[in-house]
Amino acid sequence: MNEAEVVTKIIKERRSVRRFRRNPVPKEIIEDIVDCGRMAPSARNDQPWEFVVVTNQTTREEVAAAATYGKFIADAPVLIAAFARPTRWFVEDTCAAVENMLIAAKAYGLSTCWVAGQNAEYAREVSQILGAPDSVRLVALIAMGYSHHDPKPFKRPLEEVLHWERF
Ligand SMILES: Cc1cc2nc3c(=O)[nH]c(=O)nc-3n(C[C@H](O)[C@H](O)[C@H](O)COP(=O)(O)O)c2cc1C
Repeated sequence: MNEAEVVTKIIKERRSVRRFRRNPVPKEIIEDIVDCGRMAPSARNDQPWEFVVVTNQTTREEVAAAATYGKFIADAPVLIAAFARPTRWFVEDTCAAVENMLIAAKAYGLSTCWVAGQNAEYAREVSQILGAPDSVRLVALIAMGYSHHDPKPFKRPLEEVLHWERF
């Protein structure tokens, strides 16, 4: 496969996984995944993001208890919390970084699930658990680990979503 085929296959095969094996993820792999997040585009090249990696079981359980639809964070060996300074485009910027990390994780054979952070009612509580300063906002949580599960949620077909030249 050429480079384009490899990358597009990884993007198309990524799916949210919510059941994880307990195997730990090597630190160098986690670091490279966050490094891919850091390379995302951002408006005015603001790079407003900060990432907190949590492997500690107790901390993940605390975050999982707070996150309404993220209880599986307790079972994922790695949690990445994406925070950002509230610049004009911080949500778009940081979501670009989050998606980069989901794709990079998939390339390493890891499974992930994006858990809502921005506007979530538990954002402040999670920020406190993770010791985030008041100068940043929680944008997203990523549960990450190895898994055997392979969900295949429905995706709207290309011909339905692609409009050439005009809507
Ligand atoms: C902004 C955002 C917030 C999400 N929040 C949650 C969440 O709180 N809990 C969860 O289980 N999945 C969450 N997801 C994952 C979506 O449910 C998932 O991406 C969607 O069902 C499509 O499935 P796929 O990721 O396998 O393509 C979120 C995804 C996005 C982009």
